[in-house]
Amino acid sequence: MPASPTTPSHEDEDLLFRILSQLDKAPDASQRATAAAVGISLGRLNAQLRAAAEAGLVKVSARAGPDKRQRFAYALTTRGAAEKIRLTDQFLTRKFAEYDALHAELTGTTSGLVPFKYRTKLMQNNLAPIPELYVSYDSAQKLKVEAAELKSHDLSPRQICDLELLMNGGFNPLKGFLNEEDYNSVVDTMRLADGTLWPMPITLDVSEDFAASLEIGEDIALRDQEGVILGTMTVTDRWEPNKSHEAEKVFGADDDAHPAVNYLHNTAGKIYLGGPVTGIQQPVHYDFRGRRDTPNELRAYFRKLGWRRIVAFQTRNPLHRAHQELTFRAAREAQANLLIHPVVGMTKPGDVDHFTRVRCYEAVLDKYPAATTSMSLLNLAMRMAGPREAVWHGLIRKNHGCTHFIVGRDHAGPGKNSAGEDFYGAYDAQHLFREHQEEIGIEMVDFKHMVYVQERAQYEPNDEIEDRDNVTILNISGTELRRRLAEGLEIPEWFSFPEVVNELRKTKPPRSKQGFTVFFTGFSGSGKSTIANALMVKLMEMGGRPVTLLDGDIVRKNLSSELGFSKEHRDLNIRRIGYVASEITKNGGIAICAPIAPYATTRRAVREDVEQFGAFLEVHVATSIEECERRDRKGLYKLAREGKIKEFTGISDPYDVPADPELRVETENVDVDNCAHQVLLKLENMGLIAG
Ligand code: PPS
Repeated sequence: MPASPTTPSHEDEDLLFRILSQLDKAPDASQRATAAAVGISLGRLNAQLRAAAEAGLVKVSARAGPDKRQRFAYALTTRGAAEKIRLTDQFLTRKFAEYDALHAELTGTTSGLVPFKYRTKLMQNNLAPIPELYVSYDSAQKLKVEAAELKSHDLSPRQICDLELLMNGGFNPLKGFLNEEDYNSVVDTMRLADGTLWPMPITLDVSEDFAASLEIGEDIALRDQEGVILGTMTVTDRWEPNKSHEAEKVFGADDDAHPAVNYLHNTAGKIYLGGPVTGIQQPVHYDFRGRRDTPNELRAYFRKLGWRRIVAFQTRNPLHRAHQELTFRAAREAQANLLIHPVVGMTKPGDVDHFTRVRCYEAVLDKYPAATTSMSLLNLAMRMAGPREAVWHGLIRKNHGCTHFIVGRDHAGPGKNSAGEDFYGAYDAQHLFREHQEEIGIEMVDFKHMVYVQERAQYEPNDEIEDRDNVTILNISGTELRRRLAEGLEIPEWFSFPEVVNELRKTKPPRSKQGFTVFFTGFSGSGKSTIANALMVKLMEMGGRPVTLLDGDIVRKNLSSELGFSKEHRDLNIRRIGYVASEITKNGGIAICAPIAPYATTRRAVREDVEQFGAFLEVHVATSIEECERRDRKGLYKLAREGKIKEFTGISDPYDVPADPELRVETENVDVDNCAHQVLLKLENMGLIAG
């Protein structure tokens, strides 16, 4: 049957594919040379080029110069580059099918073939290059100039991580941010619309305003936070997701205690955009450059070293002895080389920062037998999605050329939910992984919890210790380790390596020497500023650390003078305070903040900003609204009642009472000195000031 005029035949598409590839490879070649390279007549090439230019795939520009044969220059447009990628895939798919047909003819096997999508996975060698979304260097230079004219989206740190792995093949087979159909399918079934296993929605969330400014089919530039264009995306889909549904299905609960659910509701934009991405350049990393590898670089490295079986160890924590034992055992069990593959993109809020961790990893690398182990950093933004995340991690490691993957206890666990219970069972991740192992195409090496058996002076899987009643089993939990570090207590050698402990102590001095933030919140006139001032003076009297007071009124005068009292402005004001406080905390100082800060989600965001660097003490100054109004020191309540001040907290604007502050102080029958003293006692109790 002849191909219909709207559906191009394979031959047409193959030809287009060859022409686009050739233009991408040699954009400056003469038409004659291009026609020769593609193997068609000059006339036919001309016709094809005209059609491609009309379809918006190729941009033709006049070129000055005496050579008549080189009058025009041809460059792929963003759409052309995306089309080239699509056609490449299609071409490979057909080649695989032909290969299979040939195989069937030669072996006589004509039935029972595995469906294509699994078949190619099995046929793919873990060391062969995988597809990337980057265009060639020359095309990238041209695209960059073209993309400067497009509307731009400034990527968030998480989106930069996602884009890097999309472009370098780490998220293969994704070709861009998910479109609506794939998104719905991934959320509900862990599969793309075509049935391919993919457990994590990789979405481009943007603001409503930006989304509304776009036409479907429009190309946008994707910029990093310095404005560098990393790639472009053709917007094929725009929709408002049901975030609660996403949270329930992907993370198991619509509970803000889950870091990714909190991100979804309180950080991510309201609208998602989807569409294919064309890669222009990798995000720039200035740190540990030599330790970062794309999937194809790792594959090439394994090829070079002759490594055939590689077991990957995913981690977001420093390596202690239990981890080392576990990785040794995994390598032995899988008879494989070991790749330590730590995540350095985004991990769980409150984790040890990646700079410290990488120094810790480097300190223990020589404790592994030489030439059996390697380390590479992965710029992944984790979601802490437990079981789904484990499957995702497996696919990512498979893309990085690994054949085996370690899944331990509570893989990518987010901690406790708001009812104080674990989000996932300790071994749920292993179960889900096992279920999908064939399809992921990487073998799981599963581990139970490792503990130290004192009598045998070695680590053993907890569930394999048969004589547990006669031996001493030791273990230090993550929480206990943090406590010991915070309080400057001993960390035994059976638990970790002195080099690692040394690094950790350098970044995390004992709490009494770290910076911290005291964050007062309460109604206007509740007494926040007065207590904050008294506390400041008392801390200055003690000395040792610089103290900065970020009082509501002072901040509004110096940092936020242009802001009013709408929700948006209040949030901005509090985020600015949080930013300054986190910088002070990071640099070892004490920040005392005293704004009203009426919204719980914003206070939580500030807590997260600060807790990356030190302790955060939320103090609710719980003076009732009636008492504040009775005092009415500034006469504002009267004005608010008369309607002369709008959006006044407690009168005509909401205040979320802190559910779980570190301290709540009552001021109605207590003097200021005593309130400030209560804060001091709490600080002492938290180990933040020496007793
Ligand atoms: S917020 O909500 O945290 O951004 O507020 P904050 O920066 O702490 O500023 C509060 C001070 O501004 C005065 N003021 C108002 N407060 C609440 N609502 C409205 N509409 C308003 N208009 C002016 C008030 O004096 C607050 O100072 P404090 O020190 O809290 O009494």
